[in-house]
Amino acid sequence: MLLAKYPRRRYTHAKTPIEKLTHLTKLLNGPTIYIKRDDLLGLAGGGNKTRKLEFLIADAIRNGADTIVTGGALQSNHCRLTLAAAIKEGLKCQLILEEGVATPYNPNANGNNLLFNLLGAESIKVVPHGSDMLAEMHALGEELAMAGRTPYVVPIGGSNELGSVGYAACAQEILQQSFEDGLVFDDVVVASGSGGTQAGLIVGFHASSAPINVHGINVSRPNETQIPLITNLVHQTADYLNVSDNHLADHVHCYDGYVGEGYTIPTQGMIEAVQMLARTEGILLDSVYTGKVMAGLIDLIRKGAFKKEDNVLFVHTGGSTSLYANPTLFDDDLFVL
Ligand SMILES: Cc1ncc(COP(=O)(O)O)c(C=O)c1O
Repeated sequence: MLLAKYPRRRYTHAKTPIEKLTHLTKLLNGPTIYIKRDDLLGLAGGGNKTRKLEFLIADAIRNGADTIVTGGALQSNHCRLTLAAAIKEGLKCQLILEEGVATPYNPNANGNNLLFNLLGAESIKVVPHGSDMLAEMHALGEELAMAGRTPYVVPIGGSNELGSVGYAACAQEILQQSFEDGLVFDDVVVASGSGGTQAGLIVGFHASSAPINVHGINVSRPNETQIPLITNLVHQTADYLNVSDNHLADHVHCYDGYVGEGYTIPTQGMIEAVQMLARTEGILLDSVYTGKVMAGLIDLIRKGAFKKEDNVLFVHTGGSTSLYANPTLFDDDLFVL
């Protein structure tokens, strides 16, 4: 895997830190837990999309784009970061936002919504829950092209083979840090949503023959649909990067027991996990992604899924900006030190 040959923009200036979660490790009395601070990546507020956008926006620029089109949920971190990357590159950015099942669009909402306006999205189109987002984005792209613009559609979550390269690169970064610090990771635990993060890590570790298990904690779908989604993206990414596809599908591990009633819908486990990280380590997670992933990790540890001597790396994919969109969510104390 020769990543240097793929066009890339740079939005972060150093490796993100890997920190030992001493208090959490002691509290759970299981494996030693580390955290990869991808919430500290560059652009407006950091998070996993920044790594994907380094490759996606480079491709947009190579294609002469003047306008980036993308979409996501009402509190989409992906939309915030895509917009920030576009602004940094002097490009326009138009967003399509999908309403939630029970959450209509509120133009005055805090969190990421506030930042869409602050960063100056050129337009925001709101569509009802269940809309075909890909079709909406392509229709907008065609409209822009008819008007003489050069649009570039960034897929939902930045999850295609180009976006996944960002996380194949992250796998290399983790291996380098592991070597520098003399730390061997047995397992990596990460969010499994649109899939680029998990798929990229799987391909990146596999390309280096590193025997690290990547555990994807689903945030929206059951395994029935999530495993094929991740497996396809793993194959596409391996193909794009010329990585051998040998037994790659065997490396796809997803857990669908922590989604709760659905995407963005809070769970008790998520609330406990977000409070636990905040109150033991002073680290902010979010309610939609990393809170559910941490709830999964805590539960797996309590169930004895890891050995005491294991080193487990939790990838913090960002998202805490959305905490400000729902100020009463953490009113009940489910975790008290
Ligand atoms: C904070 C955060 N974590 C995790 C994810 C999921 O990552 P992926 O879509 O690559 O599976 C997202 C996706 O939007 C996100 O915003």
